[in-house]
Amino acid sequence: MSELKISVDKAGLERRLKELALISEAPAPVVTRVLFSEADLRGRRYVRKAAEDAGLRVREDAVGNLFARWEGSEPDLPAVGSGSHTDAIPNAGLYDGVVGVLGAFEALAALRRSGFKPRRSLEVVMFTAEEPTRFGLGCLGSRLMAGTISVEKAQALRDPEGRTLDELRAAAGYSGSLESVRLPNGYYHSFVELHIEQGPILERQGIPIGLVEHIAGPSSYRVTLHGEGGHAGAVLMPVRHDALLAGAEIALAVERAALGSGSPDTVGTVGVFRVEPGAVNSVPFKAYLEIDLRDSRLDTRAKALAEIRAAAETACRQRGVTLDFEEINADPPAAGDQKTIAIAEKVCAELGLKSLRMVSRAYHDSLFMARVSPTTMIFIPCRNGWSHRPEEFATAEHIASGAEVLAHTMARLAV
Ligand code: GLV
Ligand code: MN
Ligand code: MN
Repeated sequence: MSELKISVDKAGLERRLKELALISEAPAPVVTRVLFSEADLRGRRYVRKAAEDAGLRVREDAVGNLFARWEGSEPDLPAVGSGSHTDAIPNAGLYDGVVGVLGAFEALAALRRSGFKPRRSLEVVMFTAEEPTRFGLGCLGSRLMAGTISVEKAQALRDPEGRTLDELRAAAGYSGSLESVRLPNGYYHSFVELHIEQGPILERQGIPIGLVEHIAGPSSYRVTLHGEGGHAGAVLMPVRHDALLAGAEIALAVERAALGSGSPDTVGTVGVFRVEPGAVNSVPFKAYLEIDLRDSRLDTRAKALAEIRAAAETACRQRGVTLDFEEINADPPAAGDQKTIAIAEKVCAELGLKSLRMVSRAYHDSLFMARVSPTTMIFIPCRNGWSHRPEEFATAEHIASGAEVLAHTMARLAV
């Protein structure tokens, strides 16, 4: 065991998590903080203050990624990074992402209290827009940092009201070129993100810490269907071109393809399905769907996608509906760094905490940090595996254990 005696302020961390949860577009216990909404901006102010209270130096980049740094004795060396996000999808809970930001601040504060002096700088990032709510594309900040999205593509994004990223970031007070968001090569020596598992495995097995070896590759698609509308009483069934029904066939094809892919990690979801005109007595002339398709393997994901596309073409041909099937993003899976995982694993063993190597089926900013730095994630259990809903819950003990493992791991990476 290292001589470091780290004591995480469990009550303080819990209090800060609850305070930030009250900054929301919806009444408690619902947390909703959509990118650059008024709640997101207030949340950002809270996060900045929490970083400063932890003794960290804060800067923000042109897209609002926030960096909170503890300078090491050799500040020119690549830094050890951590962090996550504080934006929250509509109707979310209070732990997703936030544990990895406020927990990392507490990890660094605890390290400082212990008397530790880092050689490499330690840095916590609050990433802009991990959630795809506003622009339909997740991990915007980390994609730009890693250079895996072009500035042109980022500038072409539109929110549902047609507003651009440039307009919205300017209104939020962020200026400067998006090119400048990209990290210089070798900026991070290593990166470790703390997060709730968002699945049931740790809780079921009674294991307090998960170490992420793989992050599944997400992809998403928008499907626009144009049929023919009309009076729900007057248009007879044999001559209908109902856009909703074509969409319904596509949604069922997503489920079928994911179930039959041959990989247990293939998951497919239609989380957006809108119809026009949306009146009970009118045949839908237009339907719009968004499909989320993920897998830890690219071959089985590609096979599922091909089946979904084929089913969509057949359904639309048979129903006389036009089909526009467009990719929003398709990211490869990421592998965790074995050396970093081994260090975290040793920390857990020394702290007497059982750990389990696992796959993250949710995506995270670490999916993109893994492209530019050795990366892993520390997972903690959450009740029933619930996430993206207000009932999301993690115990203060598990959160504190996660922050403690993070602190020791970062300390070992920083020497
Ligand atoms: C991230 O929130 C995801 O959808 O996996
Ligand atoms: Mn999320
Ligand atoms: Mn998250």
